[in-house]
Amino acid sequence: MTVLVTGTAGFIGYHLTKRLLEAGHQVIGIDNINDYPSPELKFARLNELGIARVDAELEENERYLKVVSDPYQAADKAHAIAVLTEWDEFKGYDYARIFDQMLKPAFIFDGRRLLDKNALKEQGFKVYTIGEL
Ligand SMILES: NC(=O)c1ccc[n+]([C@@H]2O[C@H](COP(=O)([O-])OP(=O)(O)OC[C@H]3O[C@@H](n4cnc5c(N)ncnc54)[C@H](O)[C@@H]3O)[C@@H](O)[C@H]2O)c1
Repeated sequence: MTVLVTGTAGFIGYHLTKRLLEAGHQVIGIDNINDYPSPELKFARLNELGIARVDAELEENERYLKVVSDPYQAADKAHAIAVLTEWDEFKGYDYARIFDQMLKPAFIFDGRRLLDKNALKEQGFKVYTIGEL
């Protein structure tokens, strides 16, 4: 399975990515390596995941973890999206376009109750909102 993980270099994103890679899945990560708490810690986490800093900064490599900055590129041929962050920008993406690009069935795991579950379901996504029945 290929899973898009938001905030890959963050605390939760790193741990989820590690588990997914250990289970043999492929991960596409989005992270802008912000200053909190430190870029060094984030590059160290990516390094542990098998991505050297130079590769992360180049945004291209052939390993199981790929770090990109464009959400549509990130969703291309992904099986699932794991939203672990509360970034408002995720509310405004063109999910019809994202759905078309993903492999089917296309899953979204919303860990922050950020997205409109019913609208996504109408578009064809299999949506799991963590913390909601
Ligand atoms: N860690 C916890 O125990 C915990 C508990 C409850 C809730 N949360 C929530 O879960 C979410 C993730 O938590 P975390 O601890 O992994 O946070 P974190 O700060 O460690 O990770 C977030 C990652 O997202 C990246 N980022 C931030 N804004 C970005 C943007 N606009 N574009 C690209 N990358 C961006 C940062 O560089 C960082 O690596 C947060 O919303 C947090 O409030 C965390």
